[in-house]
Amino acid sequence: PAHRPLFGRHVLVTAGPTHEPIDPVRYIANRSSGKQGFAIAAAAAALGARVTLVAGPVTLPTPPGVDRIDVESAREMADVVKKTLPVDAAIMVAAVADWRSKDYAPEKMKKRGSAPPALLLTENPDILAQVAAGKQRPKLLVGFAAETEDVVENAKTKRKRKAADWIVANDVSGDVMGGDANAVHIVTGEGVEDLPEMPKDQVALELAERIAVALDRIDPR
Ligand code: C5P
Repeated sequence: PAHRPLFGRHVLVTAGPTHEPIDPVRYIANRSSGKQGFAIAAAAAALGARVTLVAGPVTLPTPPGVDRIDVESAREMADVVKKTLPVDAAIMVAAVADWRSKDYAPEKMKKRGSAPPALLLTENPDILAQVAAGKQRPKLLVGFAAETEDVVENAKTKRKRKAADWIVANDVSGDVMGGDANAVHIVTGEGVEDLPEMPKDQVALELAERIAVALDRIDPR
């Protein structure tokens, strides 16, 4: 294709949920199909970027031209992301589990006995915040925010708290989860851009185009 505005850029995308094992057969996870993140990886590659996609457990094909690394847990995702740096831009779309089970049971927990077991949780690394604070911070760092209320306000707060450059907010109170359409708000330091509802592939292309423009501004060539 003639239009390759991301040529020469290395883009990291995280996508999908993470699975936090409780025992060999059980896990904690967030609800995420991985579709939006995979679409972003595909769009960035189509616009000429070298793309590393760090994917949690999903059942999606690898988009053409994308280097994919599969992980299970948040800690694995954090490790792979760290090893992939430096990159020009990172788009963190994964729905990372905030918590994991504090004590992994190496054998399947049995139902026999009286009371159900108590599940103790401990905090997972915040990958986006770690990358934002790290020495190899990408020139453009984009986070996602799935919200059910006060979508844009929460995204503005999250942008500052996580020290991301942009937060792409989507309202998940409807049937966005697992669906093929999405309506997003792009929250940057300059303001908010509301995109109408469109297919996730189209959201991905709109974002990838804006990422190319932003990189050319931050890092001209
Ligand atoms: O979970 P939360 O709404 O705070 O997630 C916002 C952003 O932070 C998303 O881009 C998500 O991929 C990222 N995140 C992360 N590591 C976590 C939690 C969230 O990278 N442990």
